[in-house]
Amino acid sequence: MTHNERIYYCEPVFRPPSEHNSLLIQLTEGCTFKCDFCMSNLRKNFKIRSIKEVKKDLDIAANKRFSSSISKLFFLDGNAMVTPTEKLLELTRYAIKKLPKLKRVGVYAHAKDILKKSDNDLKELSDAGLKIAYVGFESGYDVLLKDVHKHATKADYINISKKLFKANITLSATFINGLGGAGNEDVSKAHALESADLINQICPNDDRIWYIAFLSLMIPPGTVMYEKKIRGDFIEMNSNEILNELKIFIEAINFKNKGANCIFRSNHASNYLPIKGTLEKDKAKILEVIDFGFHHKEALRPEYYRAL
Ligand SMILES: C[S@@+](CC[C@H](N)C(=O)[O-])C[C@H]1O[C@@H](n2cnc3c(N)ncnc32)[C@H](O)[C@@H]1O
Ligand code: SF4
Repeated sequence: MTHNERIYYCEPVFRPPSEHNSLLIQLTEGCTFKCDFCMSNLRKNFKIRSIKEVKKDLDIAANKRFSSSISKLFFLDGNAMVTPTEKLLELTRYAIKKLPKLKRVGVYAHAKDILKKSDNDLKELSDAGLKIAYVGFESGYDVLLKDVHKHATKADYINISKKLFKANITLSATFINGLGGAGNEDVSKAHALESADLINQICPNDDRIWYIAFLSLMIPPGTVMYEKKIRGDFIEMNSNEILNELKIFIEAINFKNKGANCIFRSNHASNYLPIKGTLEKDKAKILEVIDFGFHHKEALRPEYYRAL
C-alpha cells in the first residue's frame, strides 16, 4: 500500500460541523429514512459498505503520514447507527487498533436505530471506542415530528437519551428552528415548549457534558419540503419569528440539576445569530443575545450567507 492511495467517499458526505477535524470514513451511504427537510438520501442508494471495504480505507488512513495525529473518527453518512452491532463493533475496534492516537469514534444516529440496540450492545460499542452519537431530535412536539415524517417521538427521545447516558455515549442532539413554518404561532410555541420540556426531562443527574444545538430550517431543492414550498403549502419563518421561537425554548429551560453541563449552540451556518452557552447557567446571557438580535438586524447573518 502506498502513501498515495485514496480513501473512498460517496459525495456529498454528511458530517456534523464539530467533526470537521476528524478522519471521515464512509461506512454507510445515504439513509433508510426520508425526513421531509433532509437531503441525506437524495441521489444516493442506501448501502452499508462491507467490512473489507471499510477496513481497506482504515488501512489507507493508518498508512498516511498524518495518521499519528488522528484523535477523532466519524463514520459517515447520515445514520451509521443503522449498521448491525457486530459490524460496527468490529470496525470501531479495528480503527482503535490501527490508529494509535484515536480517542473517539462518532456516528449520526436516528432514534429508532438506537432503540434497536440493547443496553449491552451500546455498552460494548462505548467500551470499544464509540463515544458520541449525534441524534436529530428536530422537535419535542409529536404533531410536528409526524408532520415532517421523522418516524420518532418525544418518548423515543427520552428512552434513547437514557440508554446513551447509561452506556456512557455522549449525546449531541439537534433541533430545527422554524420547522413548523410561518403563520402558525400555536405550532411554533408548542415546538419550543415541548422541545424545552424534552430537554428538561432528559437532563442527567450529574455533571457530564452533553450537547444541544439549534439549526434554522433551510429548504434544499429535491426535498419534500421544497416541493411544499413551491406549491405554496409551506412558508418559511422570518428571522424575528425564528428568534422568538428560540427565546420561548430558552425561557422554558428549567433543569432539576442546576449543575448540569449542557453545552448549547445555535451557531451553525444556517442560524441568523451565533449563540453559545451552557444551560441553564447561561440562560440570562443567551436571552440577552437573542434580545440583541431583535433590535440589531444588521448583526444577523444575511439570507444569502445561510447554509447547511
Ligand atoms: C444528516 S442529519 C443526521 C441525523 C440522524 N440521521 C437522525 O435522524 O437522528 C443531521 C441533522 O441536520 C439537521 N438538518 C438536516 N436537514 C436540515 C435542514 N434542511 N434544515 C435545518 N437542519 C437540517 C437535522 O437536525 C438533522 O438531524
Ligand atoms: S434527518 Fe437523519 S433520518 Fe432523516 S433523512 Fe436525514 S439523515 Fe435520514
